[in-house]
Amino acid sequence: MYRLGGFWQRPADPTERKHVKNRQDHSEIVVGLDIGTTKVSAVVGEVDGDGITILGVGNVPCRGLRKGVVSNIDWTVRAISEAIEAAQTMAGVEIRTVYASIGGSHVRCQSSDGVAAVSGGEVGRVDVERVLEGARAIPVDADRQILHVLPREFMVDNQDGIRDPVGMSGVRLGVKVNLVTAATGCVQNVVRCAERCNLVVADVVLGSLASAEAVLSEDEKEIGVAIVDMGGGTTDLLAYIDGGIVHASVIPAGGMNVTADIAAGLRTPMGEAERLKRNHGCALGRVVADDEEIEVPGVGGHMPRRVPRRVLSDIIEPRVEEIFAVVRKRIEDTGLLEQLSAGVVLTGGGVLLEGMTDFAEEILGMPVRLGTPVGVRGITQLVTTPQFSTGVGLVQFGAKALAHARDRELVEPSRGSRHRIEEEIEVEIPVRRPGRFWNWLRAAF
Ligand SMILES: Nc1ncnc2c1ncn2[C@@H]1O[C@H](COP(=O)(O)OP(=O)(O)OP(=O)(O)O)[C@@H](O)[C@H]1O
Ligand SMILES: [Mg+2]
Repeated sequence: MYRLGGFWQRPADPTERKHVKNRQDHSEIVVGLDIGTTKVSAVVGEVDGDGITILGVGNVPCRGLRKGVVSNIDWTVRAISEAIEAAQTMAGVEIRTVYASIGGSHVRCQSSDGVAAVSGGEVGRVDVERVLEGARAIPVDADRQILHVLPREFMVDNQDGIRDPVGMSGVRLGVKVNLVTAATGCVQNVVRCAERCNLVVADVVLGSLASAEAVLSEDEKEIGVAIVDMGGGTTDLLAYIDGGIVHASVIPAGGMNVTADIAAGLRTPMGEAERLKRNHGCALGRVVADDEEIEVPGVGGHMPRRVPRRVLSDIIEPRVEEIFAVVRKRIEDTGLLEQLSAGVVLTGGGVLLEGMTDFAEEILGMPVRLGTPVGVRGITQLVTTPQFSTGVGLVQFGAKALAHARDRELVEPSRGSRHRIEEEIEVEIPVRRPGRFWNWLRAAF
């Protein structure tokens, strides 16, 4: 079993110092575990009143997933434990609880609504929770479970379009939500892999939702935007309008398909195809000069040969075009194409090809930008790349979940008193174990 909204526990350490701290100064460690088709990455963040500081990352290749879904438990477990070990060493903390990502084309999104009577004439958090509970009470297939209940808008009496109804006067609270559902077996496999590494899973989060947390601005969500997270095995699409999610879906193709096309088209091993793609790949053939050449290693004892770089881009371009055509079709099918005024934000390792944003702009017919994680401090140079959007976003998601849980604890009379916010509490602050990374930094400067 995994714990929803769980907390990382500071390790018992003989070097711990006792400090008296204001409750609001209290910092917590939140760990994102992105279990992707090509890699597992663990991102350690320290959350305090000033925001999130990235303390460490671990990034390990993984072959235990197929198209975003765990297909080999042992390989996945090995990659998770190596990634966690590396992140622990760099951050100098012990990781016990993680926010884990999930992807795959079993993920679906459907709308629902709920209504509840407001107790006491003023909408409180309890009323919001009650109406959200009502919205999730719809029949779901026996082999599926609800992953997220994402409010689109609240209605108080006859007023609609409300983002946060808490504190408003009224007698009737309504909500329109999007429910993200996933195959229970796939969710359980993610949890099982993490538990086999002695980790507690605080929550399982849709990968693209986490990526959106890391790369999209609130303004973009407000005026309408879609995020396209092109990973190795899948391309995830998530669309926001008026600050709320209106569409979530997964396309079962990504960067690995591009690599496989190159391997087949140029008759070269997969590893070499991957290297050629990263070093010389281009999504838009016309920007490649005619006289550029690349060396393609042969397969099965054949000699390497020189090939125009244009041949490589001619292989890549149709696959990328195919993926973006599906993205466009999915957006058109929602009937919301015109409302995505902020256009599309591309993220995930698969979008790192030269010419990608220009080509996406042509196919999608709207502004496109590249999205890397923002809104964190610390060792940002290691995570400011599209492959880390999900990992960093999981930390941001976890930080929000903790803040939400703390708010509830502070405000709800049944859970604690309002006065606790000013209370001085005694907290145990461990002296952080200096990791190898910190030693290296200290030595370097
Ligand atoms: N410099 C680069 N140029 C082109 N492609 C790249 C580059 N770096 C990484 N990629 C591609 O990015 C993909 C991996 O991206 P990412 O790490 O976001 O995927 P993932 O999270 O493991 O997979 P998924 O999200 O599909 O489960 C691989 O297909 C890889 O070939
Ligand atoms: Mg991914």
